[in-house]
Amino acid sequence: MEILKVDKLCKRIGKKEILKDVSFQINEGDILAFIGPNGAGKTTTIKCILGLQRISSGSVVINGYDLKKNYVKAIERVGSIVEEPDAYLYLSGMENLKIQARMYKNVVMDDVLRVVELVGLENRIHDQVNKYSLGMRQRLGIAAALLNSPRLLLLDEPTNGLDPEGIKDLRVMLKRLAASGVGILISSHNLSELESFCNRVCILAHGRILEETSMKELKEMDDTKYILKVKDTSLCKRLLMDNDRVIDEHYLEVVRDEEDVASFIRLLVENHVDLYEVKKENMSLEEAFMKRKDGDGID
Ligand SMILES: Nc1ncnc2c1ncn2[C@@H]1O[C@H](COP(=O)(O)OP(=O)(O)OP(=O)(O)O)[C@@H](O)[C@H]1O
Ligand SMILES: [Mg+2]
Repeated sequence: MEILKVDKLCKRIGKKEILKDVSFQINEGDILAFIGPNGAGKTTTIKCILGLQRISSGSVVINGYDLKKNYVKAIERVGSIVEEPDAYLYLSGMENLKIQARMYKNVVMDDVLRVVELVGLENRIHDQVNKYSLGMRQRLGIAAALLNSPRLLLLDEPTNGLDPEGIKDLRVMLKRLAASGVGILISSHNLSELESFCNRVCILAHGRILEETSMKELKEMDDTKYILKVKDTSLCKRLLMDNDRVIDEHYLEVVRDEEDVASFIRLLVENHVDLYEVKKENMSLEEAFMKRKDGDGID
């Protein structure tokens, strides 16, 4: 089921076109990696979806409610972190969550305790927020975003400042939420962190969508990298193509589609090169992204 539909979203500030025809959707259980270079428009898109910035044209529909026509309903079950999560620094984490909880109709004390445990802040929740580390503030922000049991979570760089343990916890938590049907959008510049748990990718550049696809397809769309182990790579040099390279005495890296790798193996055999092993390497999200970026002339 569809949780979020963004259709031809445009945002102008003065004469500047910040977003141009941005369209994508998030279904139940999706974790969408929202990526793109600095200034691409990720935060602006998230702010528009949350109604924190006015939309110039286009539409946003959340849980079936149009943001413009039915703001209260649309935003009711949405949790978010946008840029630095803000909190009252001189109050404790718990007091902050209680204030936040009062803004929702159906959130009770049990919910507060549940999210505190979920983000692992039990031991420090009664400390003043100005005594928190960056990662602890981030955890508090995530707790606040989960208070109203959201159906849609919008997380703008939520891993900023989190330690490896915190990142792992967040990943496990988001996977669990997605499995229960929550739709999640997460932006980050750390692509290797995203690729292990996002099932979809949306690449934004200069305010436009470059690509919206599944993580699997993005990585498989281009020629694949194969690592070959041979007896002696010096015998192969003249058989290689531009994108191939010799790693060392025994290992070669070649870029081919499936058909072509078969012919390459035949070629090796015909040239009396002993072949020990062929391994397919999936492209990383980082590599796939750089390839798109280069192809589209983005700086
Ligand atoms: N209030 C504003 N007035 C004018 N331009 C703005 C305003 N807010 C954002 N912009 C511009 O909009 C563009 C998109 O900014 P945005 O913050 O959405 O990018 P981003 O993808 O989140 O980047 P980052 O990865 O650095 O967080 C940038 O060129 C930025 O300078
Ligand atoms: Mg941003």
